[in-house]
Amino acid sequence: MTPAAIDKDAVARNFSVAAGSYDGWATAQAGIADALVRRLPGDFVPALIADLGCGTGLLSGRLLARYPSASLVGVDLAGGMVESCRKRRIGGARASFRTGDAEDPAALPDGADMAASSCAAQWFSDLSKTLRMWAASLPAGGLIALATLVRGTFPELAAAHLEAFGTPFPGLDFPDADGLAGTLREAGMRIYAADAIELSSVHPNAREALRSFRKIGARVPGRRPLGHHDMRMLLAALDRRRNADGMVALTHRALVLVGING
Ligand SMILES: C[S@@+](CC[C@H](N)C(=O)[O-])C[C@H]1O[C@@H](n2cnc3c(N)ncnc32)[C@H](O)[C@@H]1O
Repeated sequence: MTPAAIDKDAVARNFSVAAGSYDGWATAQAGIADALVRRLPGDFVPALIADLGCGTGLLSGRLLARYPSASLVGVDLAGGMVESCRKRRIGGARASFRTGDAEDPAALPDGADMAASSCAAQWFSDLSKTLRMWAASLPAGGLIALATLVRGTFPELAAAHLEAFGTPFPGLDFPDADGLAGTLREAGMRIYAADAIELSSVHPNAREALRSFRKIGARVPGRRPLGHHDMRMLLAALDRRRNADGMVALTHRALVLVGING
């Protein structure tokens, strides 16, 4: 996987602005967090969990419920997201939240025996390197629990863009699912689960589907907004792809990966 240049200040700004609307729109992300928690080993009891790219705490809350004796530190690039977790006192005294870059070893909490992350890693600049760093920070028996969107996500948007303009959709360069389990193995981890899953968010029309990206803060930095005419063409092409219920679906393809250290 090639490291991608990503403007992290812009990513942080975009997600910060969306902190108030995120939970109302992040239906697919909530489903992916549930899928990740369902795949965790029954006999593992963490003491300190790091939720890396914690956002508004969708995964944090689920992990704290699953592991009632664990503490959790949530780390996110976006100050607005961190503030939202703090204000709502997610996890009460068992949890704390701070700003930081999950790709920076200095941002990881000392002593964590579980590194968890859901729907954040597609924004990283070098996921393989970051996974190796997380693995190296864990004790023997420690766990990485990762869910990330992968290549092939939003096929409806890709097809609509191709139809409207004859070119591939210039969206986020999602990581390739192949090879991520191998990265963990090379880092000395045993693979407990590596599952491809698919979840769709559904919207009454194409305009609302595209609005959902803004509402969760998922805006690709540096991408020029479409002009009115091009936007109309894209919306029309996406509206032509309504499903049998007359809705516009956005298919999220994710890899759920759980590895145990040593
Ligand atoms: C789509 S949200 C997912 C949030 C949450 N984990 C969930 O499942 O709903 C992605 C989050 O990852 C954060 N993020 C992206 N890159 C990051 C990085 N390098 N370090 C820490 N957080 C990052 C964003 O700020 C955003 O809050």
